[in-house]
This record gives sequence, structure tokens and C-alpha cells, in this order.
Amino acid sequence: MSPIITRKMDAFRIFYDFIQLKEHMKHFGAQLTVGLVPTMGALHQGHIELVERAAIENDIVVVTIFVNPKQFNNSSDLKQYPRTIETDIALLSAHKNVIICIPNEIDVYPKNDPYSPITLGILNQVLEGKYRPGHFPGVAHVVHNLFHFIEPTSAYFGLKDYQQFAVIREMVKQTQLKVKVEGCDTVRDENGLALSSRNFNLSEEQINDALIIIDTLRYIKSKKNQFEIDHLLAKAKDFFNKGKLTLEYLDIVDAQSFKKVNNLNRKTVCCIAAFCGEVRLIDNILL
Ligand code: PAF
Repeated sequence: MSPIITRKMDAFRIFYDFIQLKEHMKHFGAQLTVGLVPTMGALHQGHIELVERAAIENDIVVVTIFVNPKQFNNSSDLKQYPRTIETDIALLSAHKNVIICIPNEIDVYPKNDPYSPITLGILNQVLEGKYRPGHFPGVAHVVHNLFHFIEPTSAYFGLKDYQQFAVIREMVKQTQLKVKVEGCDTVRDENGLALSSRNFNLSEEQINDALIIIDTLRYIKSKKNQFEIDHLLAKAKDFFNKGKLTLEYLDIVDAQSFKKVNNLNRKTVCCIAAFCGEVRLIDNILL
């Protein structure tokens, strides 16, 4: 990274549309590497770690904040999604080479929309794909358009959304966009709860109750050599049901194809979704 670019970067900026953002980025020159961190706001330490990694690997970091209506299959979920824009801006302003972009819907989805829907296959039929119809097509669409308009060198996503990461990689493969898609480990609180914007909607008591999620995943991992998969899952569900949450799914699939597996010899991932009161939480563990 050249020192000239470093000096130029030293200005925290917020843009509200892609045209101004791209105009600003032009000043840095064509060689500039741009790390994109797409978010829906309600930022937490998990996002900050994505920003920090993007800052290490790129000349500048663009963080987008856009609550994408197309990826919510349920209007009350969209309404309840936490919005903490002022705190988000304050958090990011501590990072000097960060540019925030807060586009509106018409920027992200213009009349001349550049996106042609892709085929997600099994990714859209199992786990999150099955339980949140329309969610992944909406994620693929928004991320495609962010990539198209911002043209980042690399983009960073948390692996808590393990299946989302696979969807985004598939979208990039099919659309042949030239973006490196990087996955970053899930960030957890001191008790193991995966950080999530949705945790903002949990009470202190619910944050404690939600620990059954990581406890169940760890239970499965610790017993993975003792039982056949179906038996292991049944035992894990009994374990989970001792807690207060309502299980939506708990399953073990191949970590790349997302197909069901019969044994745990290959690279497999255990994924879970559960409701803590009204709040839907997901998590996963590689076995
Ligand atoms: O993971 C998220 O916050 C969202 O799904 C994303 C990738 C920003 C797309 O809206």
C-alpha cells in the first residue's frame, strides 16, 4: 500500500448513493484495492472484525448499510429488524480508512436492474432455503447489485451465515463477477453465543436462554464419534429441548454441497435455527 494512498484515505466519509461513492473512489486511482463489507446495520463486534480484516487486506474499506427488504420472507421480521444507524456510524468512525455507503432502495434496485436471477438449486431447498422461502434469492440479488455498483476487489462475510456464504459464492461463480469472496469466523460472546444483529432484540434473560444453541452444537461435536447421525441428532434434539427455545431445524449436511451425509468422515457442518421468543437465531459448527 503506497503512503500517498494512505494519506488520501485518511478521511472518514459517508455517502448516500453509489454515484457519489464511485466519484469519490475515482480520486484514489485505478490501482486501489477496495474491501467491501455489506451489512444491514445494527453493527456488532462481528462486523467490526470483518472491517478490520478488510482494512488489513485492502487500501480502503466500504461498509454498506442497507436493510434489504427483498430478503425478508416475513414483513413483521423486516419491521422488527434492529436499526441503530447513529451508533453504527459512531462505531465505524473510529476506523479512518472506512467509507460508509447508505444507499436507498432505488439505488440498489434501479429500473434498469443489472441482475438476472441465478439458479440456487439445493442451496435454496434445504435449511435456511427451505424455512425462509425467497430469502436467498433476495440475498443473491442485493449482494450482486452491491458488487456490480461498487466493484470491490474483495468482500467479507461472517460464517455464522454459513449457507448465505455458499449462496454468495455460487452467485459470483454464475455471474462471473470479479470479486474475491472471503468468509470470516463467527464471533461469539464470552459464553459462546454467536454475535448477531438480532441479539439486540433479546432481553438479558433470553441472551442466557439462547446459549442452548451453542451448547447443542458443542454437544453434537463432542459426541460425533459415538453415534450414527440420526441417533446423534435425536439425542441432540432432546438435549436442546431441555432449554426454553423452539427448534426450527437441526441438521448435519456436507459443508460444500449442503447434501445430507450418511457419515461424518467428510467435511460436514451442523446447522441450527431456533426461536428465542419472537427472535429467530441461527448458528452452525463444522464437525
Ligand atoms: O448478512 C447480512 O447482513 C445480509 O444478508 C447481507 C449480506 C448484508 C445482504 O443484505
